[in-house]
Amino acid sequence: MNKLNLGVLASGRGSNLQAIIDACAAGRLPARVAVVISDNGNAFALERARRAGIPAVHVDMGDFPGKAEYERQIAGVLKEHGVDLVCLAGYMRLVGNGLLDAFPGRIMNIHPALLPAFPGLHAQEQAWCYGVKFSGCTVHFVDEGMDTGPIILQAVVPVYDDDTADTLAERILEQEHRIYPEAIRLFCEGKLEVRGRKVYIK
Ligand code: GRF
Repeated sequence: MNKLNLGVLASGRGSNLQAIIDACAAGRLPARVAVVISDNGNAFALERARRAGIPAVHVDMGDFPGKAEYERQIAGVLKEHGVDLVCLAGYMRLVGNGLLDAFPGRIMNIHPALLPAFPGLHAQEQAWCYGVKFSGCTVHFVDEGMDTGPIILQAVVPVYDDDTADTLAERILEQEHRIYPEAIRLFCEGKLEVRGRKVYIK
C-alpha cells in the first residue's frame, strides 16, 4: 500500500505528534509525517520533528497581514511537501477557509473531551469542574466550527472522586495517543466514509 503523507500542525509540546511519528515508525500506520508546522517558534513539537528528521517549519501569524494570507502560506508549505492529510495536534487556532478549501475533507483534529460536550479550550478542566463521571477524547474531521466536525473515533475514561483536572487530563492523553494514530490509519486505508454528520467505518 502506498504511504500517505501527513502534515501535522501543532502549537505546543507535541505528544500527539510523537504518537503519530512512533506509529509510523513501528509500521502501525501506512503513512509518514512529511512536515510539521507550528505557529509557535518555541513549540517543543518542532524539536520533536527535528529529532525525527522531519522538516519543521515555523509560520508566524505576525508576518502576515491577516489570517487568509497566513493560512495560504501554511497551505503552500503543506502542498510543497505533498501532504495528503492534515492532522491538527494541539494546534491552538481555529482553522479558516484558507486551509479548509485547500484540503477539503482532509483535515483531522483530536479533542480532549467527548464531543459535543466541552468544546474549546481547557476541555479536561471543563469536564472535571462540571462533575461528569466519564470523559474522554474525540478524533473528528475539521469544519469551520469550533470542534464541530464529523466524529471519527472516541474513547471513554472514568472520572474518579480523587481526580484533579491534571490527573484526568493524563488519563485522557493516554487514550488520545491510542486513537489518533488509529483514526489516521483508517483514513489511510480508505475505510472512512463521511455521509453528512456521520462517519462510517467500512
Ligand atoms: C491535547 O490534549 C489535544 O487533545 C488538544 O491539545 C493537546 C495537545 O497536546 N487538542 P500535545 O501537544 O499533543 O501533547
